[in-house]
Amino acid sequence: MKITQNRMDRGFFKYQEEFEAKALEVLRSGWYVLGREVESFEQEFAAYTGAGYCVGLASGLDALWLAFRVLGIGSGDEVIVQANTYIASVMGITINGAVPVFVEPDRYFNMDADRIEEKITERTRAILVVHLYGQASNMQPIVRLCEKYDLRLVEDCAQSHGACFDGKMTGTFGDIGCFSFYPSKNVGGFGDGGAIVTDNARIASDMKMYRNYGSEKRYYNKVVGANSRLDELQAGLLRVRLSHIQELTDERRRLAERYNSSLHNPAITLPEVRTHADSVWHQYVITCEHRQALIDYLNEKEVGTIIHYPIPPHLSEAYASLGYGQGSFPITEHYADTVLSLPMYNGMTEEEQSYVIDTLNSYSRA
Ligand SMILES: Cc1ncc(COP(=O)(O)O)c(C=O)c1O
Repeated sequence: MKITQNRMDRGFFKYQEEFEAKALEVLRSGWYVLGREVESFEQEFAAYTGAGYCVGLASGLDALWLAFRVLGIGSGDEVIVQANTYIASVMGITINGAVPVFVEPDRYFNMDADRIEEKITERTRAILVVHLYGQASNMQPIVRLCEKYDLRLVEDCAQSHGACFDGKMTGTFGDIGCFSFYPSKNVGGFGDGGAIVTDNARIASDMKMYRNYGSEKRYYNKVVGANSRLDELQAGLLRVRLSHIQELTDERRRLAERYNSSLHNPAITLPEVRTHADSVWHQYVITCEHRQALIDYLNEKEVGTIIHYPIPPHLSEAYASLGYGQGSFPITEHYADTVLSLPMYNGMTEEEQSYVIDTLNSYSRA
């Protein structure tokens, strides 16, 4: 049996009729950018997260860099971010000329709240929390630090749609929550898309201005903005996906529970979920000390896996100018060398998952 790490087509076929009907409705409407579908999606997504406002954007990266732009964070400012994130989190900071200050992760792959305070300087303006792999970060101490030092709090929720800490949804703890609707995400579109959520009306209206060339009124441009509009087709299709989000999240949770209870190979370590937090299992990430041998074995058995992520941002060529090297963030680097994401997708059959479980349980290093 051949199993890939993700199957985005399954998520489409699950609600095929609804997606196709919505696509035709939008195509036939004659209105394709910033219209009824985007407005409805924004209202529905804000209501889903519990935030006051949602603004649809063209991608998760745009949500991040525009968040810092709207907050007035730029050249000379420092933003604290976890070191083991997808590079887009860091680009959201540096596109504005601000400096990323990296913090090592905890054993749940999220920012280690105990290591933040030592990184705060007089230049620190914000903390960017990334709810990596779908699990909520340890928000209580992070919110307290932001209050103590008067820092802005931005959340990267590209992987955490619907994940909660103490019952409150990720994206609603700070000033701005940033989301991606890239097709593989838990709320995935059929192309690129993103959004921010906020409780602050001013931030929401500024974001609407920035996403549309910096104009509130056509051809009157107040600031140098971007073209970062969620289009009507994506918004319509995202409304369909969002209407099924509980079912989709429950399915991922069932898959994760089955991995948790059925995988028992001492060569691998299973992911843990923090008390007070939950996970929407964007990825199911194990660690394995001799990872390449395991990958080779799984490839041979046609079980696909992905490494999220093999090169941490501080070691990426793109950030060579920051001056870090091997050994700068050992915990992060160790994760980069040992993490492995198992197949996890909506529409995964019991038979497929059994095959992955049996294959992994039968593994022993030669
Ligand atoms: C943690 C994280 N942040 C930001 C992004 C960027 O989102 P997008 O691909 O929509 O630009 C992604 C997704 O790729 C991500 O996983």
